[in-house]
Amino acid sequence: MGQNIVLLGFMGTGKTVVGKELARCLRYRYIDTDSIIVTMANKSIPRIFAEDGEPHFRDLETRATECVVQLRRHVIATGGGIVMRDKNLANLRRAGPLVCLEAIPNVIYQRTHSNTYRPLLRTPNPLRMIKQLLDQRTAQYAKADVHIDTSYLTVSEVVEQVLAALDRLARQRGQKHFLLDKNKTR
Ligand code: S3P
Repeated sequence: MGQNIVLLGFMGTGKTVVGKELARCLRYRYIDTDSIIVTMANKSIPRIFAEDGEPHFRDLETRATECVVQLRRHVIATGGGIVMRDKNLANLRRAGPLVCLEAIPNVIYQRTHSNTYRPLLRTPNPLRMIKQLLDQRTAQYAKADVHIDTSYLTVSEVVEQVLAALDRLARQRGQKHFLLDKNKTR
């Protein structure tokens, strides 16, 4: 089992809010690949998309996955499209178990529609775009080790489920429990 926890999942599935709470509970640090990209490019995600295009953003995203492999005791949240390159998944797998957060399209829409910082959802029909992108990405998300549907759960319920699922995963792999009780501060 790697030294970090990696959160995958579509936009609006709760990676940021769950990741921060998970990190707090475990006394891990929180980091997300979008912030690494913003630092590397020295501009916001919408500006990268607008000025440099999505392919450039995806290249920076791959570089971000190369950076996080070095980390220890971090919860690493990732951008929703990071799964589309197998190379990214391979890098992230080296960093730690892959936990995919999921949600149904309507919930994703409700959670994202008032935000303007996601260039891919700035379209006349965001719900249709959400469904299209989910169709394209589902097979890649399926490659995660653990899947949690966050649609109707609170943040702390998701955190509980993630920890329980990681413990089960560690046991299946014949490893010691993923987390030692003394690390849990809940
Ligand atoms: C994207 C998701 C975003 C961000 C970028 C592209 C995607 O991250 O990386 O806007 O392709 O799904 P979040 O999933 O954190 O919103």
